[in-house]
Amino acid sequence: MSVKISPSVLTSDFLELGRDIKRLEKAGADMLHLDVMDGIFVPNISFGPAVIKSIRKHSSVPLDIHLMIDRPHRYLKEFSECADYLGFHYEAGSDIAETLSEIRRLGCKSCLTIKPCTAAEEIFDFLPLCDMVLVMSVEPGFGGQKFLVSALDKLRALKKEITDKGYNILLEVDGGINKQTASDAVKAGADVLVAGSFLFSGDMEQNIAYLKNL
Ligand code: DX5
Ligand code: ZN
Repeated sequence: MSVKISPSVLTSDFLELGRDIKRLEKAGADMLHLDVMDGIFVPNISFGPAVIKSIRKHSSVPLDIHLMIDRPHRYLKEFSECADYLGFHYEAGSDIAETLSEIRRLGCKSCLTIKPCTAAEEIFDFLPLCDMVLVMSVEPGFGGQKFLVSALDKLRALKKEITDKGYNILLEVDGGINKQTASDAVKAGADVLVAGSFLFSGDMEQNIAYLKNL
């Protein structure tokens, strides 16, 4: 299976968001990664459901929502109306099994996300309830940070568990993905690469093509 690219629009010029999304889709984006931050679970604040509902109307690829919010169960219904993949953090203070199940009941694919401080093994019991798992390779909150190599061992451990148990789960990695780090992440087992500042820092079309042809 070839690697999927889920561009993060966090570093877009938001006045030009529609134009950027069209460019990303045309260049081969497989989904769009939308980073929702509440200023509590992470120190930054980004955008919420109103913006994503507008994106939904104007985009043709699946939306991959990455909730970086405290107690995410409070907002599942609202985000499920505009999500394909709906992901939340293991560390954010919700009942994990119930939240994953609720996301599926609401008609979305469920994604459990772990911060750099969380070991892969901690979430093994929840894998039967996951359609995707997101390994953070930076501290969540900001684009443009350096890739943490500790994410590679976690990807390997999760890939092994997913394969051994025969689960149908996509493994996604987010943070610091660029020409130097992407192939290591794919070799370690990533099926989906999130990329933000790398795609926006040069020729977007060429950069997506580079990642898709690793
Ligand atoms: C960080 C976000 C990432 C980030 C990726 O909290 O979850 O999705 O925007 O940006 P880069 O690729 O610049 O690390
Ligand atoms: Zn993200």
